[in-house]
Amino acid sequence: MRPLLLSTLPGIEEATVIEVKRIHPLTATEKIGEGKILVENFPLEKVGSLRTILCASSVLGIRSLEVLSPRTIRKAIREILRENSGFEFLEVSLKGLVTDRGFSEKYLEVIAAREVKRVWKIKCNSRASARLRVELYGKRVCVSLDFKRNIFRRSYYVWKHLASLNPALASSAVLLAGVEANSNIYDPFSGSGTIPIEAHFLTKGVECIGSDINVECVRGALVNAAEAGVKVVFFTADFRKTPIRSCDYLITDPPRGKRLRVSNLRKLFEDIFRISEQIVRRRLVLITPYVRLATGVTSSFKLTKMWSTRVSGSKIRILIYDI
Ligand SMILES: C[S@@+](CC[C@H](N)C(=O)[O-])C[C@H]1O[C@@H](n2cnc3c(N)ncnc32)[C@H](O)[C@@H]1O
Repeated sequence: MRPLLLSTLPGIEEATVIEVKRIHPLTATEKIGEGKILVENFPLEKVGSLRTILCASSVLGIRSLEVLSPRTIRKAIREILRENSGFEFLEVSLKGLVTDRGFSEKYLEVIAAREVKRVWKIKCNSRASARLRVELYGKRVCVSLDFKRNIFRRSYYVWKHLASLNPALASSAVLLAGVEANSNIYDPFSGSGTIPIEAHFLTKGVECIGSDINVECVRGALVNAAEAGVKVVFFTADFRKTPIRSCDYLITDPPRGKRLRVSNLRKLFEDIFRISEQIVRRRLVLITPYVRLATGVTSSFKLTKMWSTRVSGSKIRILIYDI
């Protein structure tokens, strides 16, 4: 079985490792770069069910170099392509990636394109359906073939929210929170419903509830949940007046955006903690860029873990609080 290279959001690789082990406990995993996890013995047909990954590729070969130079990189790529000359593509597109700075990604692609032409005797075309990834992790070269692009795009997402959460991040937060089977999750800022819907996919028997102040969002979240084929309760409410009296996990992505003034934000986080203190039985999880404001609130919750990731260039934190 070929090893697989899984790409996730950098900084939350642990979520993918947890998910992979849950689906197939016998899989060996290794973090090989920012947002990159190498897995061995993972069943290929189950890749599409991984919810924390952005894309996956099938590894053709990995070489460790003694010296990092254009010559050694070219030689490594050539060897890997020679060992894998059975593919019948007419053309491939190329993606070069360098994890540690010090070598140009464009130059890596140029080197790889020449070798593809020489060894596989095919052209590189950015519009080709098959994509070859050539990645450099320190002094390791990894060549792999994408077999499905953008796994994180969800087909259920028909009603779109302007500030929706990346579903891979929503899934990761649920996994990192250690949500247990047959518990319940509440998202008081549910928007298009990403967190409750993803939670439903990940945990057996979990009851998911979402609410939002905006009735349009609630209608949209219901459309998305129906499209996803999951049963989630969504209703309209200002979170300060939520009728929910208790939940095991409160996992949420509070409002973010330039229109919110800092004083409003401080009040928002104070209110989130005040209400959570009344209703949360196990864990509070905040997905937010406003880490200082969140950690500045005094409450009976204890910040036990924090992950930091980047989504579309913005730094986002997953903060896990225990009671
Ligand atoms: C960052 S968005 C959540 C996006 C959501 N995670 C998704 O993937 O679509 C924050 C949401 O909080 C809602 N909101 C703002 N103020 C609120 C309040 N006082 N009570 C409840 N919801 C509120 C907004 O309508 C918005 O949909």
